[in-house]
This record gives sequence, structure tokens and C-alpha cells, in this order.
Amino acid sequence: MSSDSPQSEYGSIVLTNINQLVTNHDEHGGLIGAIDNAAVAVVDGVIAWCGSSEDLPDKFSDIDAVDVDGRCVVPGFVDAHTHAVFAGDRVREFHQRLAGATYEEMLAAGGGIYSTVEATRASGFVELIAESLPRFQRMVSAGTTTAEVKTGYGLDIATEVEMASVTNAIGMSLPMDLVGTFLGAHVVAPEYQGRRHEYVDLVCGEMLDAVAPFVSFVDVFCDEVAFSVDDARSIADAADGADLGMRIHADQTSRTGAAALAAEVRAVSADHLDHATDDDLAALAASGTVAVLLPGVSHAMKLPAPDGRRVWDAGATVALATDCNPGTAYIETMPFIISLAVLSSGLTAAEALWAATRGGALALEMEDKGRIAPGAIGDLVVINAPTHDHIAYRPDGDLVVGVVKDGTLL
Ligand code: NIG
Ligand code: FE
Repeated sequence: MSSDSPQSEYGSIVLTNINQLVTNHDEHGGLIGAIDNAAVAVVDGVIAWCGSSEDLPDKFSDIDAVDVDGRCVVPGFVDAHTHAVFAGDRVREFHQRLAGATYEEMLAAGGGIYSTVEATRASGFVELIAESLPRFQRMVSAGTTTAEVKTGYGLDIATEVEMASVTNAIGMSLPMDLVGTFLGAHVVAPEYQGRRHEYVDLVCGEMLDAVAPFVSFVDVFCDEVAFSVDDARSIADAADGADLGMRIHADQTSRTGAAALAAEVRAVSADHLDHATDDDLAALAASGTVAVLLPGVSHAMKLPAPDGRRVWDAGATVALATDCNPGTAYIETMPFIISLAVLSSGLTAAEALWAATRGGALALEMEDKGRIAPGAIGDLVVINAPTHDHIAYRPDGDLVVGVVKDGTLL
């Protein structure tokens, strides 16, 4: 989408004097395929070559070269789970939670997600863009070149369509690729309280028909406080009928069986997974459903971190994402998430970086992203350190000093 906009024309660039180039390509060894003393060439937005500096072919000598002075270069971050289009904030509820109120209690009292639904419904299209755009600008500055964005704060047809359209409009105006997901099944709309089945029918029918042209995926918050496994199965069937990929908020606040359902219906991703069992994780590994871990949520909610080690060792493909939303994780930057995944969720620095790049790309079914190899999209991040592990090691570090989107240095 953003490739159509003037801000992100396909460019050509050569980066030289890279101390460590993380390719995520096993041809170069190990999980992240790091090349020392490297260079990379991007031609018309696509990676044309990468390798040792001394092997850089002469044919790239006409292209503008940037000497990164011994820094590290990694693929652009892919944030595969966000709710970053919304109006207002929930800082008042943050204080209530610090004083002991639970997320579930606030939702039951008509707050939580419902507070943001109220603010988002009250906001017009232009206002919603104006409020959301700076968030995405900060994401790009922190190295996110691709992000998934969910609806789910409208819960009526008009506002759900508006949220998906805002996502697409922002994607057109920024050097960033945004992928829309329809989350009409976030919670039961206020007008449908006590009529959950009717609301699920609306989501699977008229609402999905209206939003489908603007999105690539469908999601459901399958949880004791939201939708049941049976509801989620109906929504997965409807997504299939609309030819859209399925994602499921699964086993976040308790184990409902949502991850098992994600594996059964071969969802593209199962997200959160804090309460998934070993059998659930084995099923995800077998189905190829990507496990999207969101350690920023547990951090901001003062809950135990998701056990990334256990998920990785179960053989599931792991992605990391911010879950950027006003309630459970007002977090915009992937480097911080990488650090949390290492310091709290038990991944190694290399695993966390892979999950925030290649894992995210696989969670969005984007084969050409999250890796640096000929033919892949030319999205690169320059880290202000000689090696990638500084990202995890320096949690508050603003280490992103350069972002290349589609071959253009921003
Ligand atoms: O991923 N779990 C449901 N949705 C979000 C929270 C959204 C909100 O509280 O506004 C999540 O944590
Ligand atoms: Fe979420």
C-alpha cells in the first residue's frame, strides 16, 4: 500500500561498512544468518545482493552508497499484532488498575475496551487519522516497516469500516506497510448485551461483508470475558468463506481451548498464549500456526510474562509484537519488545530478533519480508551498535539510527 505513496518510492541504495548484517537466511549460518564486515545492495526497492564487503560487485558502483561506520543492520521490524488505531487513552483506568481493579472488572463495568469504543465512535474519520498517525510515525522511527492493525473499537458497521479505512489511509501516507485485520469480535457491542449470538451473526454476516474489502485477516478475542470457542469457530468459518486469513487472541487471561481451535482451523496465528498448555503448543507447531507472543502486555499489566522459551522449544514458529493498544499495552516500539522477550520471556537475543522480523513476516504471510536475501523487500534498520544483541541488552536504548523502506533511506 505505502509503495503507491510519494513518501515511499522504490529506491536504490548500498549500505557498506556493516559490522554485522543479520539476514535471517540460514545459508549464512545459524538462526539469524549473521554476516560480519558486510554490505547490502537494494535496487528498485528489492534486495539485489548481500555478502562480505570485499565481494561487493562493481555493478553496484553507480548506486548511492552509505557507510554505516561499523554498525549493525537488521531487517525492518514486522509488528504482527497492534490495535494502534484508536481515539482517547485509558490513563484513568491505569491508575484504577494500580489501585487493585482488574481488567476483567473494568470491562464488566462498561470500561476497558468499551471506553475506547465510546471514544472511537465519537471521533470522525479525520480526527481518528490525526490521533493515530503520530503513533505510526513513532513506530517507523523505531524501525517498524510493516505492521498489522486491527479494527475492534467500532463494533458497529460504520465505525469498523472507518477504522479499517483509517488504517489504509495511514498506510498510504507513511513509508510503512500496514495490513488490516477485522476484529468485530473484540467484545460484544454495547447494543447487543445479553444477545451475544445475535452479535456473532452480525459479525459473521453483514459486518464482515462491509469490512472485508479493506482487510486481509479476521481476528476474534476468544476469552472468558469475550467470545467462546464455538463463537470463534463460527467466525473462522465466515473468514474462510470470505477468503480471509484467521488470527485468534488465544488463551490470554485463562485457558479456553482457543489455541487448540487455532491449530484445528489452521489459523495463520494464535496470539498471547499465556495460558496455553504443552498440548496446545504442540498442536500449533504441527499446524504451522504462528505463535505471536506479546510480552509488553504482561509487563504493562504486572502479570507473569509469556513463557517464550516453552513456546519456542515446543517447535512453534514464534513472532513478537507490541499489541499497541490503549488498555493493556500502550507500547509502540519493537526494540523494547525484543528486550522484554529476552529479559522476561526466556528467548535468546537472536531468537527474539528473528521473532520480531522473520517471525512477524510469517505471521502476516509475507514471504518476502523479515529477511535479507536477493528478491526480498528492501526494508532495513541500522542499529547504533556493532552487534544486534545490544537491542536486548539496552532496554531503554533508542538504538535505531537509520531506516530504509523499499530501498529509500528515510
Ligand atoms: O490484545 N485482548 C484483547 N484485546 C487487546 C486489549 C485491547 C484493549 O484493552 O483495548 C489485547 O490485549
Ligand atoms: Fe490484541
